[in-house]
Amino acid sequence: MTAPGREIRTHNDARGSVLMSLEIPGFADLVEIGRGGMSTVYSARDIVLDRPVALKVLTAELAADPGFRARFKREWKLVASFDHPHIVPVYAAGQVADRMYLAMRLVPGLDLGRLVARDGPLGLGRTASLIGQVAAALNAAHAAGLVHRDVKPRNVLIERRGSGEHCWLSDFGITKEVGGAETATMTGGLLLTAHYASPEQVRGGRLDARTDVYALGCLVFKCLTGSAPFVRDSEAGVLAAHLVDLPEPVTRFRPELSQSVDYVVSRALAKDPAGRYPTAGALAVALRQSAEEFAAAQTLVLRDRRPAERPPAPRPPTLAEVLPSQSSPCPERFGHRPAHSLRTPGDRPRLPAVLGAGRLDDG
Ligand SMILES: Nc1ncnc2c1ncn2[C@@H]1O[C@H](COP(=O)(O)OP(=O)(O)O)[C@@H](O)[C@H]1O
Ligand SMILES: [Mg+2]
Repeated sequence: MTAPGREIRTHNDARGSVLMSLEIPGFADLVEIGRGGMSTVYSARDIVLDRPVALKVLTAELAADPGFRARFKREWKLVASFDHPHIVPVYAAGQVADRMYLAMRLVPGLDLGRLVARDGPLGLGRTASLIGQVAAALNAAHAAGLVHRDVKPRNVLIERRGSGEHCWLSDFGITKEVGGAETATMTGGLLLTAHYASPEQVRGGRLDARTDVYALGCLVFKCLTGSAPFVRDSEAGVLAAHLVDLPEPVTRFRPELSQSVDYVVSRALAKDPAGRYPTAGALAVALRQSAEEFAAAQTLVLRDRRPAERPPAPRPPTLAEVLPSQSSPCPERFGHRPAHSLRTPGDRPRLPAVLGAGRLDDG
């Protein structure tokens, strides 16, 4: 029997997960499912309620910092007061020996990083749907005066529901002001994820909701291209890029998309917060508009192609055939021509040249 709150590695199970002997009163069957810079996440069972939970256990080092403990409790009380369909519900929080833990809804499925790794770059419609849900969660948090500060693929959990995907945003506030000034280069393994850090986080400046808008823009880029906007050889290079480099246009990776997507990403990733969308919701609306225009344009392309792809319709009888005794004075006037041949070139819908060149959007 281990002392409560102590963990001992035991063995790997068939799936390679490390089974831990970590005693947290009230919870059983702990299996490690993920590990971040400051915590380990386990699937577990709430013994009394007999339901699955995700248990996030903070590193002993963090739990030992009284300032962090106080902030952790304050932030998570606020998050626990949310009742939002896209924010992971917190069930309980506590401390056992030198460990602090949170029990929350166990989201069955993948985080966004793993989803993109599995499926490759996502369709624009699917991206707009996922980002819209994350934006709804952020809007609610911002309205309550909370800035997330660590919006990144690993903090977006995705659950399949029927034919759709339900997004949950997790990890509010955990990284807030850890160890004092907040910058993306904090030491001690408590990094904000460099790839999603805003310029003001890199500089250690004041943060507000627009910091999350920047990170959300980075998520859009990740979904559509498969990687974060600034991929460099070193973390310092990534951080410097957030300060001075412009992101490559998404259309360079996805030529079938329209430049409205480039505009959305470049505005979300403006270096100056004043140049960004003022809210996460505004970014999501702009992206959804792009997706709807793209879907509508694709429908037009398909409709335009359809006659050529179909076998010609059977020819209707001419008047001469119907009335064999009379000769038609002008037979071609009654002859059938397929509908598309009646179109003049000027009838073609005007579309950007690239549309229709790529594969169909999966969204
Ligand atoms: N509530 C949850 N339900 C299911 N899986 C979760 C949950 N919370 C976290 N995870 C998984 O655990 C991994 C590690 O989470 P976390 O410790 O928060 O890492 P990070 O600090 O990088 O966000 C996540 O990438 C995710 O796959
Ligand atoms: Mg996390």
